[in-house]
Amino acid sequence: MIELVSPAEMRAWSRARRADGARIGFVPTMGALHDGHLQLVDRARAAADTVVMSIFVNPLQFGPTEDLDRYPRDLARDRALARDHAVDCLFVPAAVDMYPPGAVVRVTPGALAAHLCGPHRPGHFEGVLTVVAKLLHIVEPDVAVFGRKDAQQARLIARMAADLDFPVDVLIGATVREADGLALSSRNAYLSADHRRQAGAIPAALADAHTRFLGGERDAAALCAALRRRLEQAGLVVEYVEAVDPDRLEPVATVAGDTLVAVAAQVGTTRLIDNIILGDGLAADLPAH
Ligand code: PAF
Repeated sequence: MIELVSPAEMRAWSRARRADGARIGFVPTMGALHDGHLQLVDRARAAADTVVMSIFVNPLQFGPTEDLDRYPRDLARDRALARDHAVDCLFVPAAVDMYPPGAVVRVTPGALAAHLCGPHRPGHFEGVLTVVAKLLHIVEPDVAVFGRKDAQQARLIARMAADLDFPVDVLIGATVREADGLALSSRNAYLSADHRRQAGAIPAALADAHTRFLGGERDAAALCAALRRRLEQAGLVVEYVEAVDPDRLEPVATVAGDTLVAVAAQVGTTRLIDNIILGDGLAADLPAH
């Protein structure tokens, strides 16, 4: 595994690989790697010949009161995991190279950030899209893979690639879950043992929504209200529970066709998100009961 820090060297490496005929797969991360990231690497490798992973804790996507300073960072551990998982190139740029003094232009998300996390994290998706746009320009991959746990992010990135003509295929990898269904997240590292137990209410509530859906419930407000109640009963502070169209990310009144049901909730001081798609497919992504 080669490790690169300079954007110019990263681009040169990718171009040399492509000149050799290789398809390049890319998995952007903020480090604190877990099995979810490693499965995205598998997905990238299945679609490409060589896999680049980036690790960059992007300051632009954290609000002033969010967890930028305490976000888990362990490059030595991440490097070993990436190497063991046969990542070909690890790109670890410095903040000053990603945002040199004077850099002011940003990519804005538009209407796709009007619901779900958008209103609760002002500027977050602008930060995500800006860094992902830069990373895509630097790495120049054929395929880039993002996790479905961050459903709104994944949708926005796919939309950005389409709307701004990025020559890349955006793939979405399934959410990877613990035995009790909790979605893997770097932020799970913040949870105390008690909070970790409490967090199990999120996949349980989503599974309950799925059961209600299978039982014939199609009223989005009723499904969301039951889900919210279940989370609140478990002591979580709910930020939102919403049922939206998975493409336009606009609220729906009735669950007809695929519907993204997404939640954000605080467990102690940790904010967690998760979602399911109710409807025709994607049962593999459902939390365990
Ligand atoms: O999902 C993440 O880890 C980040 O938001 C991403 C896509 C790497 C951009 O910083």
